[in-house]
Amino acid sequence: MCGIVGAVANRPVDKLLIDGLKKLEYRGYDSAGIAIIDAKQQLQRLRVVGKVRELDNALLTNPLMGHTGIAHTRWATHGAPSEHNAHPFISNDEFALVHNGIIENHAHLRNSLLNDGYQFHSETDTEVIVHLIHSHFVKSKDLRQAVRATINQLEGAYALGIISKHDPKRLIVVRQGSPLVIGRGRGENFVASDPLALLSVTQQFIYLEDNDLAEITLDSVSIYDQNLKEVKREEHELPLNLDSIERGEYRHYMQKEIMEQPEAIASCLEGRLNKGQVLSAIFGHKTEAIFPAVEHVQLIACGTSYHAALVARYWFEALAGIPCSVEVASEFRYRDVAQSKNSLFVTLSQSGETADTLAALRLAKKMGYLSTLAICNVSSSSMVREADLHFLTRAGLEIGVASTKAFVTQLTALFLLALLLRRARHKDTALEKELLEQLQHLPTLIKDVLHQDSKIAEWAKSFTNKNHAIFIGRGALYPIALEGALKLKEISYIHAEGYPSGELKHGPLALVDTNMPVISTVPSDNMLEKSLSNLQEVRARGGQLFILTDQGDLQNQPAFSDAHIIRMPKTHPLLNPILYTIPLQMLAYHVAVLKGTDVDQPRNLAKSVTVE
Ligand code: M6R
Repeated sequence: MCGIVGAVANRPVDKLLIDGLKKLEYRGYDSAGIAIIDAKQQLQRLRVVGKVRELDNALLTNPLMGHTGIAHTRWATHGAPSEHNAHPFISNDEFALVHNGIIENHAHLRNSLLNDGYQFHSETDTEVIVHLIHSHFVKSKDLRQAVRATINQLEGAYALGIISKHDPKRLIVVRQGSPLVIGRGRGENFVASDPLALLSVTQQFIYLEDNDLAEITLDSVSIYDQNLKEVKREEHELPLNLDSIERGEYRHYMQKEIMEQPEAIASCLEGRLNKGQVLSAIFGHKTEAIFPAVEHVQLIACGTSYHAALVARYWFEALAGIPCSVEVASEFRYRDVAQSKNSLFVTLSQSGETADTLAALRLAKKMGYLSTLAICNVSSSSMVREADLHFLTRAGLEIGVASTKAFVTQLTALFLLALLLRRARHKDTALEKELLEQLQHLPTLIKDVLHQDSKIAEWAKSFTNKNHAIFIGRGALYPIALEGALKLKEISYIHAEGYPSGELKHGPLALVDTNMPVISTVPSDNMLEKSLSNLQEVRARGGQLFILTDQGDLQNQPAFSDAHIIRMPKTHPLLNPILYTIPLQMLAYHVAVLKGTDVDQPRNLAKSVTVE
């Protein structure tokens, strides 16, 4: 999962390629590179270890001038982050190539190219591709044919950008399993892994389909299928503006995105409710026929989206009485699944491009589920295009690698889905009306929690010298404990685990001593007394308690007089998972800021995981 940008223009392209790469850093940021065809029709390349700003700085002393170019920001898979493993790769000073994805049969291809006399300068799976292109071009003298012959030999996932000194005003791109979009300009054309990278130059986009090969020149875009037959792909206007990708007054994107959550939920609900009911067609018109037949829901996701799915299981079973299974996509896709009858298959994904989740969706389509539904934040994503049904969460652009507003809008979407599935089975709509009133009030309550920022920042000071932390919760707040732990470890690098509160005594309690912070969510629901007993177990071992609760008098109880307590607003118990997420995100954020980590681009990670 790397980021690719390319351009053919009548002006120097170095700046716009760098600008595009900066927008793609969420896809990887351990090294970066650029290749350009200069005025003498020679390939010039510059690569650096580190972020795109390092490449930008390096260009000040080593400028590359030219009107055709490709650039890349890398998230290392094969070979450490180093200059010689950074893209673009070059073969015989004739072809330059950038790649996003993984070539599974690279070892075999490398051996045969070595036998043919090619020399390798990297440990990557990518370098084989550029040498293969060279070897085919030597025979056919036709770049399109050479690229097609090359990709016929590749196994795996790839989006490729290729330039050649033999054809300096042409850029060839290919897509198989990794995202790639063409941006149409006036007298200039572009490509990128995400339209975001090109918003400063165009709003007109063509999404390539798997197996498409496109030839891009100054004034033309020609797309060919796998038999090199020319095909048409629709052009879309993307009315995104650049303001949505500015950080504004905020220090980090994550902070901005946490603060945007009241509006994100309101936007997710907008136009989807009417007179105390969820509108029946918001997941697609066909759902009126499909939902009454649903006897099981299979939820599939990764990371934070998986935690949203875990919460939803409580809702589907409690509200609709429908059995629900939840599984991490990378597990689901490789095991022999015993499929439930009349099962609705739902993928959850912020990006809609996560490789494992997308592969699971494709598998589910083959397996013949009752229907497939993608709940997603990106309208142009593969999942949205490929699922039978889709629902857009409308969180707005999420740039911080740590997912925040996408998560709460996924929860909102899943709550609406649970209510619709309930209505397909129950006549009574009184509970739906009550819950929707509370749901609509949630943005206001979240604002109240956001106003407690300084208290949470104060808590954060107790974590900066910690190496471990435990998060606990019961019921649908157990997945929120998992999410709180993921947020903390992801951006502050503190080892954190989430447990159901009742599980502590079955092992994790052995970790609790006077140095262990235990963060717990304790709303006044039907599990209150049990949760308080679990906290006593921690206290008896000297653990440091950090409690989020809507109970006003907890601090006055002698047992909790030395605990750190933050008072939460009250909502319907079923909605507590959404509300209690917010302070945990804020805690992780403040701890990371105090520790001085790279909040928006934590080490070793990337926003969109488009490789296995
Ligand atoms: O785009 P997706 O929701 O499919 O991404 C899934 C995970 O990679 C993602 O949620 C990841 O765990 C986040 N970095 C967590 O903050």
